[in-house]
Amino acid sequence: MHPTHTTLYTQRRFELSRQMGRGAVAIVPTAHEQTRNRDNDFLFRHDSYFYYLCGFTEPNAWLIISGDGHTTLFCQPKDPDREIWDGVRLGPQAAPQTLDVDAAFSITELDARLPGLLDGCASVWYAFATHKGLETRIDGWLGHLRSKARLGALCPWSFNDLCGVLDDMRLIKDVHEQAIMRHAAHISACAHIRAMQWCAMRVRAGLDVREYHLDAELLHEFRLNGSQYPAYGSVVAAGANACVLHYRAGDGCVHSGELVLIDAACELDGYASDITRTFPANGIFTGPQKSLYELVLASQEAAIAAIGVGARLSDLHDASVKVLSQGMLDLGLLDKNKVGTVSDVIEKRHYFQFYMHKTSHWLGMDVHDCGTYFEPSEMNQVSTRVDPLTGDTLRERPSRILRAGMTLTIEPGIYVRPAPNVPEVFYNIGIRIEDDAIVTESGCELITRDVPVGVADIEALMRA
Ligand code: GLY
Ligand code: MN
Ligand code: MN
Repeated sequence: MHPTHTTLYTQRRFELSRQMGRGAVAIVPTAHEQTRNRDNDFLFRHDSYFYYLCGFTEPNAWLIISGDGHTTLFCQPKDPDREIWDGVRLGPQAAPQTLDVDAAFSITELDARLPGLLDGCASVWYAFATHKGLETRIDGWLGHLRSKARLGALCPWSFNDLCGVLDDMRLIKDVHEQAIMRHAAHISACAHIRAMQWCAMRVRAGLDVREYHLDAELLHEFRLNGSQYPAYGSVVAAGANACVLHYRAGDGCVHSGELVLIDAACELDGYASDITRTFPANGIFTGPQKSLYELVLASQEAAIAAIGVGARLSDLHDASVKVLSQGMLDLGLLDKNKVGTVSDVIEKRHYFQFYMHKTSHWLGMDVHDCGTYFEPSEMNQVSTRVDPLTGDTLRERPSRILRAGMTLTIEPGIYVRPAPNVPEVFYNIGIRIEDDAIVTESGCELITRDVPVGVADIEALMRA
């Protein structure tokens, strides 16, 4: 039986307390509300650490967790006038029962109560450099406490970064988290299918198709299926726009004969998905598009084959770079008379002209989720090397060893900007293929393949 949500969050708080140890106290605020313009706010999104520990989504809330697991919540007080405008608030009276916390007070009592909650604790834990103004608030509470020293108050004497412990906890997704992420991935896959089919139908009919039209189709499918918002700003890039890595859905025209790159996915109940598909606007790949597409797909397959418990995260990148580099030589994107063998291409990073990002990142509550990319047990094994392209000296640590339950993306690409020595048939083609995977004992589970990825499958889908 799965634990109920309440006990799940309580278990996480107890695990955090266990790792902090007695005498510790953790201070965890949720996110700030952000003004968009004048009196108009951006849609509120809770802080991921805060949500991970209590599942509460209201703004203006703080968690204080002590080393013995005792948890105090500060939250917005009930206020009939404000609730008419902003909606129902849980309020401190109902919070202990609903959220399984030990005590709850109005947020208006935070400054008055915090010195007392810190009094006598040895160490204060908070997420370093993540929350604007947090250090100043803590300073204020400690200063107040110190001023009471002659009355016997004892000020904490060490600070610890909460990110270290929480990031490692969040890096391994439990069954509850995996279930939400599978669902989010499914909704996002359906959205990609919808956008592809809508695009082909309209382009074939000779109708005007803009990037923002496809963005609207994605959003429709996300919201129709209960997603709260996109997990990140949707990239919908037609033609040459696909070579701009962080291009956002604009008003570009989608032309028959060109490719469209969509990197868009939803957030569901606090968890992100992250999918990229690249498809021909009219539903049929041209020869050069197909050659590059199949190369990117082969490089993704090589990276996927490298995933497994005990492998290193860098193995994925190395596997995709090897396939891409060989393909760049075979297709003439790189001239072997100038750059040499595939080993030279990799060693001197010639591939970087067309593939300039990494193959993978952690995925979870945040689309680029928390967790170090080096192996913590080997963090002192630092090696240095000189980057052949920039001349910079890079310090490297052994890459993270994969464990079951880690969740990551696999997203190789090729981006061909016009340049001398590059065959013109490939000019302005940008392709990325991105799927999400949960690491399992026997390899990985791909959770985004409800949207097809093969050339023939995409063409069949877009004919339908
Ligand atoms: N959508 C952001 C990324 O692919 O990393
Ligand atoms: Mn990604
Ligand atoms: Mn993406």
